[in-house]
Amino acid sequence: MSEKKLTPKCVSESRVVLSTLLNPEHANALGNVHGGVVMKLVDEAGGLAAMRHARQPVVTVAIDSMTFDEPIYVGNMITLTAELTYTGRTSMEVRVSVTAEDPLTGSTVPTNLAYLVYVAIDRQGRPSPVPPLCVETPEEELRFRQAQERQIERKKRHQREQALGERRDAPDKG
Ligand SMILES: CC(C)(COP(=O)(O)OP(=O)(O)OC[C@H]1O[C@@H](n2cnc3c(N)ncnc32)[C@H](O)[C@@H]1OP(=O)(O)O)[C@@H](O)C(=O)NCCC(=O)NCCS
Repeated sequence: MSEKKLTPKCVSESRVVLSTLLNPEHANALGNVHGGVVMKLVDEAGGLAAMRHARQPVVTVAIDSMTFDEPIYVGNMITLTAELTYTGRTSMEVRVSVTAEDPLTGSTVPTNLAYLVYVAIDRQGRPSPVPPLCVETPEEELRFRQAQERQIERKKRHQREQALGERRDAPDKG
């Protein structure tokens, strides 16, 4: 059966900008903000952007790149910007950048960059088609091409890992 053609949506239509204050309960043993707290916020912002694009529930299928470039301190306000970079048939890659601001001085520093892949799912939990992404600027076009290459690499890696896993799980016939 042929699929219904979905209207393309632009990057700006699903962009999410999320700011929050980081408190002592978010600290690690060193007194800085725990990396896991930032990862959770990154996944939330990325998931929201994907949901706004698809207007369907989404699940995270891959987080294969996240950098921690600068520490974030308790008392900082962080701002996460999540933008779609790529859509496949049912998958979406989202770029999430994070900056930390000292609200007393106003000094701002980029702290993290992550790429995550989400898949839209239907009521049965099966992958569901998403609107194609329309890219409007040369930067968005470049990001789309780079994301497409990353997605090809992810699929190859996933297939390699599955093949290896299957061999590991296979009964030893020796
Ligand atoms: C997401 C899920 C439904 C996909 O199921 P699946 O059987 O792999 O489905 P498909 O093979 O049809 O893949 C669906 C899409 O995901 C992409 N995909 C699957 N595994 C991927 C991976 N490791 N990395 C990147 N993309 C991946 C496929 O390329 C495909 O994209 P496309 O439709 O745009 O071409 C399934 O893997 C799942 O339920 N995972 C658990 C998700 C979860 O619980 N997340 C954490 C909580 S939110």
